[in-house]
Amino acid sequence: MPYAHITGWGMSVPEQVLTNDDISKIVDTNDTWIRERTGIQERHIARADQFPSTLGYEASVKALKIANLHPRDLDLIICSSSSPEYIFPATACLIQDQLGATKAGAFDLLAACTGFIYALNMGAQAIRSGSVKNVLVIGAETLSRFLNWKDRNTCILFGDGAGAFVLQASDQPGGVLSAVMHSDGSGADLLTIAGGGSRHPSTEATIQEGKHYVQMEGKEVFRFATRVMASATHEVLACAGLTLDQIQWIVPHQANIRIIEAAARGLKLPMDRFIVNLQHYGNTSTASVPIAMVEALEKGQIKPGDKIVMIGFGGGLTWGAVAAEWTGPIPSKGHVRPERYRLFARLRSLVRRGLRFIEGLLYRREL
Ligand code: COA
Repeated sequence: MPYAHITGWGMSVPEQVLTNDDISKIVDTNDTWIRERTGIQERHIARADQFPSTLGYEASVKALKIANLHPRDLDLIICSSSSPEYIFPATACLIQDQLGATKAGAFDLLAACTGFIYALNMGAQAIRSGSVKNVLVIGAETLSRFLNWKDRNTCILFGDGAGAFVLQASDQPGGVLSAVMHSDGSGADLLTIAGGGSRHPSTEATIQEGKHYVQMEGKEVFRFATRVMASATHEVLACAGLTLDQIQWIVPHQANIRIIEAAARGLKLPMDRFIVNLQHYGNTSTASVPIAMVEALEKGQIKPGDKIVMIGFGGGLTWGAVAAEWTGPIPSKGHVRPERYRLFARLRSLVRRGLRFIEGLLYRREL
């Protein structure tokens, strides 16, 4: 049975930074309160012309470059997002087109902030089954578009960004070692964007009621998160046959420093075993774990051979964890530059649209 190795990684965040002081000019809050209650100092906010596919594409190109893998060699693209570009088509398809990943199947996965953990497991299982060899897993968000900038309970927490991993099949043991996924829909109403779906299609009334915004019972979500982080870690380690002292790094969902500190107490681990970067990005939902991973790799914190646990939790309610051994890129010949392929991918996309147009004309004549 092939192993699923994480051979490429990349992240992208918008240039625009919104500090706590900036937010205090919009709602009744202040830098001290936000830092003390959440640990967040600033977050990145997308420009009007930046979307999950824009950021997801940029993160994917970086990941493919590190993996030295051409987009056309991808078999599958899974994009997890809590702020997808459309209900459909899938954001994964938009990224597939921009990359020119001509052979890849592409779909979106919705498990709120746990989405990347679920997607990573799904991608790894597809490789383990032997049905595919190369998978791109993305978490991409512009959740700022769904924030009520008059609601100080939510607008201080979230930020925009994307992260991507390339998974590749190998006979060498390592890569994704185990995963657990959980849900509890009895808490569905605790964290939600209720409007715009088929239950509350967008109308003047749903807009008036603010149903198109993120709504959250902060305290309940906080309690749930602190409870599941330690249990998911113990569970995923038991599945991999590992103990906590064999793990070098815990990479948690970056929602609130107090949640991470509570998990550290629950696991009886010092905070320096946790990768934390929420102070600069806020909660980027599905992108938070890969962004934390990429930064830790770039700083040289995580090294080949290290064993890590990634943990997610969020709306649904959902939670889960992945245990992995970090292997780094699989050595291969040549230097793939996926960003140089962009123009070709655009041309290809235009040609395909043109061909569909001509096909439509011919088909109409046949009728
Ligand atoms: N700025 C200033 N004061 C604020 C504030 C803000 N942004 N938000 C709330 N307050 C006030 C409240 O009105 C309250 O005042 P009061 O005591 O006079 O009534 C006080 O601060 C405490 O509010 P509370 O809601 O109890 O704060 P908290 O410690 O629970 O922190 C959250 C609020 C949202 C930061 C916290 O509950 C949380 O992080 N929850 C989890 C959220 C999360 O991670 N969601 C995503 C999961 S994927």
